[in-house]
Amino acid sequence: MYSTLLTSLENNILTITINRPDKLNALNQQVMNDLNNVMDEVYNNAEIKSAIITGAGPKSFVAGADISEFVGSSIEEGKALAKRGQDIFFKIENAAKPIVACVNGFALGGGCELAMSCHFRLASENAKFGQPEVNLGLIPGYGGTQRLTQLIGKGRALELLMSGNMIDAATALQYGLVNYVLPQDQLLQKAKDILNTINSKAPIAVAACITAANAVCNETKNGFDVEVNEFGKCFITDDMKEGTAAFLEKRKAIFKGK
Ligand code: COA
Repeated sequence: MYSTLLTSLENNILTITINRPDKLNALNQQVMNDLNNVMDEVYNNAEIKSAIITGAGPKSFVAGADISEFVGSSIEEGKALAKRGQDIFFKIENAAKPIVACVNGFALGGGCELAMSCHFRLASENAKFGQPEVNLGLIPGYGGTQRLTQLIGKGRALELLMSGNMIDAATALQYGLVNYVLPQDQLLQKAKDILNTINSKAPIAVAACITAANAVCNETKNGFDVEVNEFGKCFITDDMKEGTAAFLEKRKAIFKGK
């Protein structure tokens, strides 16, 4: 169905594996199109409650945008490339269902940007993060200058952006770029354990958490107002009635997403 992605749906979790291991899963335009289309599937398929994005093979999550496609681009082509990438990554960030990056190796350039557009990140012990675009006379174009600064702070972000240096998984953990560092063979299971917990909660409330948290990074929105609105919307759901009743009746809530 997707020429550059492998997908498998199990326990309402869609695992999306970028599958170009011979090119370290670099993001060419076909991968970007497939990512765009798979996000439509995540948005529209009610069977899917959450998703994991990872890379094929033991070495790389995604080693960046495909540099071979950069040759000979004009200003307008460069801007269009960045805009298209940003739009696809906004689609990930703004999904109403949790999307987790399992970073199983290199997350460089567009790979680091892809991981940062996910709602949170887990890394394997061999993971390496970086924005090496300056080595190519470029800067990140898929949201990296913004999300890296938001996630790890301006000083650390600018050091990485301007030096092109990579950081290892332990440093990424210390910086708060990833939530956990695990042996590679435990990475997917840990993400699934967390998502199984999230998937057992009220879906409308889970979506509202994402909407409200994303408002922090949106200058056109007042995040506290967004929180008030989302709280109000949750307040009238069947799931809120069920959750509060179940607590008072000392039983487990059964959420229906309504
Ligand atoms: N775009 C296109 N191809 C890429 C790529 C990218 N971003 N990253 C890796 N590849 C390809 C290599 O060209 C090579 O292809 P080949 O076997 O046909 O020659 C293959 O993937 C394996 O990569 P290689 O460089 O041989 O592996 P390595 O272990 O020696 O080095 C990296 C790994 C990640 C350090 C190195 O591949 C690299 O620096 N990649 C580019 C990272 C980057 O600048 N990303 C930002 C892009 S904006």
